[in-house]
Amino acid sequence: MITPQAIQSVKDAMRVEEVVGEFVSLKRKGPRYLGLCPFHNEKTPSFNVSPNLGIYKCFGCGEAGDAITFLTKHEHLSYVEAIRWLAKRYNIEVTEEEQTPEQQVEHSERESLAVVQQWALNWSVDQLWNTDEGKRIGLSYFHERGFSDATIKAFQLGYVPEQGNAFAYAAQANGFNPEILEKAGWIKRREDGTGTAWDFFAGRVTFPILGLSGQPIGFGARTLKSDKKLPKYFNSPESVLYNKSRSLYGIAQAKKSIVEQGLCYLVEGYTDVISLHQAGITNVVASSGTSLTEEQVRLIKRYAPVVTILYDGDAAGMKASLRGIDLVLKEGLNVKVVTFPEGEDPDSFAKSHSSSEVRAHLTDTAQDFLVFKAALLMADVGDDPVKKAAAIHEIVESIALVPDHVLRSLYLQQCSRMLGVNEQALVSEMNKVLRRQYRKQGPDHAATEELISPELAAPQPEVEDLGTFPQERELIRILLAYGHERITVPFVTEEREQQEEEMSVAEAMFEVLAVDDLLLDNPLYKEIYLHYRHVSNLGTSIGETYYVAHERKDWQEAAIEVLAEKYVLSHNWMDRHRIYVKRDKTDLLRALTYAINGLKLKRVTRMLTALSNDIGMAAYENVGPLMKEKIHLQKIRGQLAEIMGRPIPV
Ligand code: CTP
Ligand code: MN
Repeated sequence: MITPQAIQSVKDAMRVEEVVGEFVSLKRKGPRYLGLCPFHNEKTPSFNVSPNLGIYKCFGCGEAGDAITFLTKHEHLSYVEAIRWLAKRYNIEVTEEEQTPEQQVEHSERESLAVVQQWALNWSVDQLWNTDEGKRIGLSYFHERGFSDATIKAFQLGYVPEQGNAFAYAAQANGFNPEILEKAGWIKRREDGTGTAWDFFAGRVTFPILGLSGQPIGFGARTLKSDKKLPKYFNSPESVLYNKSRSLYGIAQAKKSIVEQGLCYLVEGYTDVISLHQAGITNVVASSGTSLTEEQVRLIKRYAPVVTILYDGDAAGMKASLRGIDLVLKEGLNVKVVTFPEGEDPDSFAKSHSSSEVRAHLTDTAQDFLVFKAALLMADVGDDPVKKAAAIHEIVESIALVPDHVLRSLYLQQCSRMLGVNEQALVSEMNKVLRRQYRKQGPDHAATEELISPELAAPQPEVEDLGTFPQERELIRILLAYGHERITVPFVTEEREQQEEEMSVAEAMFEVLAVDDLLLDNPLYKEIYLHYRHVSNLGTSIGETYYVAHERKDWQEAAIEVLAEKYVLSHNWMDRHRIYVKRDKTDLLRALTYAINGLKLKRVTRMLTALSNDIGMAAYENVGPLMKEKIHLQKIRGQLAEIMGRPIPV
């Protein structure tokens, strides 16, 4: 707990223009300051800071408050965190009462580690600049890599001598005990009983990893040997001071610029960060070899709403890391991607190009992440509809992670255009994903159901539901998508001989339905069905795009609606619902039979329901013949249900 007195001294010390000024660039205008509002997007400044009143107010969006409010809103800090932040900023001691003994131990260990790391940082920098070995080996290595003295200083790069115990010796002479030095990752102790200390980073150049306020919390140390068996980097172990998944390399140097640019570049390595800085791009951080964590993403989000990931991998590597990036979407960050020419990483690219070329590459080639992912996945789908469906499903799953539903529907629109898939179909597919997620989260999340996108106004014919709509739709879908395909249909002759005949799917459908004089109920589907039959009887071949390009808008819409599904549903889903996707011709025949029998089964069931009603109302003498008919229909229903391989609908 922070004492009320401490809170008061923090409040007395804080200057709103200084606090806000850390995140927003402000210009003095008479008695107040003016800047671009960090809470909404604007081109002309309407964000006012008044030092006299100790408050800020935006006349554009209405956000207002004091320095503490600003930190809670802009930095997403809690009240207590904001007080601590201010206390640090203004060097005020906030003594916290009632710490548990463990907290005290942890607290003092953190303090000791912080002291060690700061001392080690100074020592390694001194070794680099002020010793023969440091200059000859470490400094010349950095120069060779093209780092200027200013850059080397800005990143506080250092060197540890090869000798093997120079650090251990100096640090212990300075009074640090070996235990804390080991926890800090600087020394290791022999396990031979002597406990002799040796330098973990010996013969390496060092890259200090700084916390948010610029204090060193860990180090990366690169070997200068080209021996492939040696790990290129040694990194400090995790400790109460250094939590890898919560730190980003370069954040201390970059955060101001990230806020100013409203954008954070994310790279892989220490050297990428440094080279880009030197090229004038300062809003850049690295996740240092680990895959991006949720905490790191939240950290970035505190400073900017957009992150651009600079990828130097090959296509395979990129694909592997795509899933990892999905979590960035979940946090509501807008994600973009920049790739580099084969064999180049941001570091090498920054060295072989001018600053303006680098800047141009970053801004001009940035692609939206979801669009990038869609293009990458679709690249090797080819003509395979199953693969395409799987790719689309994966993309839709990513889009479903975007918390903002306006943004989500923009992505759906964009992907619909890119992939040539009906948007409504994408929406329904995504809603399925969302519902599944909410179900997983349990009933408590029922309220989030409203986040699900409303289905778009689908071109679904408005007819009284006679119960056969899904079956008719499936028939039309098979007709439009595969009607022109040729299949071999077996039949039994009058002499009970098994025979086969080759015909188109459409012809087979027309023949089978004609036997029972079956027509479709749905007026729109019936029109299309009859039209198809008429036109193909005249000898016109009707391809998949025939109705999609038809001048009758309602036919066109219906065709697009049924055809879109072919590419959208996941393989599993199709199997479960027995929706046919072309695999081979025997399948096609089965799909046709299944669809026709499905329609028949529904019709028979409907007739049976009507019949039961009639029987209930019929005069006594009429019941007999009706019962007979009922038994006949029940038999047919039984046969159909058996063929369909599923229980009889009640
Ligand atoms: N890394 C690591 N341990 C390794 C290799 C890599 O911790 N053995 C981490 C480092 O944070 C490194 C990042 O992964 O910065 C990216 O690796 P890499 O591209 O190999 O290193 P660079 O930073 O590019 O270093 P250099 O250009 O000096 O080879
Ligand atoms: Mn590199």
